[in-house]
Amino acid sequence: MIEVQNLTKYYKDFCAVDNISMTIRKGEILGLLGPNGAGKTTTLRMLTGYFRPSSGSITIKDYVMPEDNLKIKSLIGYLPESAPLYHNMLVYDYLEYVAKLKGIDDKEARYDRFLQLSDLCGLSAIMAKPIADLSKGLKQRVGLAHAMMTDPEILILDEPTSGLDPNQIAEIRNIIKTIGKEKTIIFSTHILSEAEATCDRIAIINNGRVVADDTTANLKQNAGRSSFIRLAIQGAQKNDVVDLLSGISEKLDISQVSENEKHILSFEIRCSDNTDFRSQIYLKIKETDWIIVEFQKESQALEKIFRELTREEK
Ligand SMILES: Nc1ncnc2c1ncn2[C@@H]1O[C@H](COP(=O)(O)OP(=O)(O)OP(=O)(O)O)[C@@H](O)[C@H]1O
Ligand SMILES: [Mg+2]
Repeated sequence: MIEVQNLTKYYKDFCAVDNISMTIRKGEILGLLGPNGAGKTTTLRMLTGYFRPSSGSITIKDYVMPEDNLKIKSLIGYLPESAPLYHNMLVYDYLEYVAKLKGIDDKEARYDRFLQLSDLCGLSAIMAKPIADLSKGLKQRVGLAHAMMTDPEILILDEPTSGLDPNQIAEIRNIIKTIGKEKTIIFSTHILSEAEATCDRIAIINNGRVVADDTTANLKQNAGRSSFIRLAIQGAQKNDVVDLLSGISEKLDISQVSENEKHILSFEIRCSDNTDFRSQIYLKIKETDWIIVEFQKESQALEKIFRELTREEK
């Protein structure tokens, strides 16, 4: 449904989005997950046609940017990072204003749409309130109603839960899941659990590049499979341990993580293809006079993988 190829955006000579390619299928909820400054907003702005890419292509259904920009804009509902609401208006008046702006001229059609949106976004109790008096979560619901006014096929939501309290986050998440049953949704977040809880697929983005792109289930499963051995040893020199264990296999990557006051050295041992080398490691250490203080296999959580993939390059 949405095909992005080699999308790149420079701000002067700074590359904010670097050669991103991805496909978003109809009906999918895709989470664009990345830390601050990763390039999420820039990517979403290009998808919505608000920014022109420096290079690369975007095709939505059979429409191509920028030639079919207007048509594409009509397919997309967009909730920007900070929703530009008119704070001195009542919610109802604001939605009326948006509806007219979007060309819903018929009064009854507008009324019907308000009822649907009010139901979906939980607005009935606040329709007559000034926007300025609403909590952040309620404002965000009005922003969502705005984005969905014309019942677009695609929704692009930029950090829809940012700055909300846990209850409000859960409410917005439920709304997104309900809408997601019928629509294609792309939303950005910098919170892993958020993406995990809501999305069918997660694209992790860092420094303008996609560093992982898979179904949430696959990402979780692979993270579960990816494991390392934690080993703590007393009575050894670091280099001797590294030399001894490196001799077992080239696949092993051994890093020392700490040394405590009792000179116990802690290591993390990873294997490039996830083979379990515990027995070989044990047999090697048995030949020495070192004391094993800790020796266990740990699985690498998705959280840790996310942190590693989005680590600042030093
Ligand atoms: N108008 C602009 N001019 C110059 N640089 C910009 C501009 N907008 C964004 N940038 C830079 O581009 C990079 C990507 O920004 P972007 O806003 O897309 O990131 P983001 O992932 O949305 O971050 P956040 O989580 O903070 O919203 C950042 O380094 C940012 O400083
Ligand atoms: Mg942003």
